[in-house]
Amino acid sequence: MYTTEDHGIELLKTLQDALSGELQAAANYQAYARNADLEGHHVPAALFRSVAYAENVHARNHVEAIRGLGEIPQPEPVRPPVVESTHANLSSSIAGEELERDSGYPRRITVASGAHESQSLRSLILAAMAEAGHAQMFSDALGSLHHNSPAEARFFVCPTCGNVTDTNEIRFCTVCHGDAANLLGMS
Ligand SMILES: [Fe+2]
Ligand SMILES: [Fe+2]
Ligand SMILES: [Zn+2]
Repeated sequence: MYTTEDHGIELLKTLQDALSGELQAAANYQAYARNADLEGHHVPAALFRSVAYAENVHARNHVEAIRGLGEIPQPEPVRPPVVESTHANLSSSIAGEELERDSGYPRRITVASGAHESQSLRSLILAAMAEAGHAQMFSDALGSLHHNSPAEARFFVCPTCGNVTDTNEIRFCTVCHGDAANLLGMS
């Protein structure tokens, strides 16, 4: 029989796994950002930095969800990032974000729904929606990688949900509907 306790254990495992994934992604993107700057690709560099910040927002939300269950966050140790060319780093980042959007987060959301745990559910749903935006932003950056690239770029990160946009001329975050005045400009 599937008990409430099983749901709780599975939910905790799910959140720990999501937390590990977010911390690894943040570390990878920071490393990709440094490499992109060295290659003279300043737009992808700023985007990688912004999305790294966003993944840390997801990690913080998952930490709070784990603490909300009365448990201790125990992420896996972060592995050293494997850095390739900016083109390859963007490609693998798109694949990673799409995987999270299409299978990682939907699976976790099903677990949190089954456990009827609203804080976890919110943390996971916001992350899933933000990952869809990250995939799109990385795709756009890959598409314009070899066009005349400006020396500087500015992106905006929602500190509530980790949504990343290229404009702050909006009133509300398109993912969490928080006040867009809180968006954090990053370059
Ligand atoms: Fe994330
Ligand atoms: Fe992401
Ligand atoms: Zn938001």
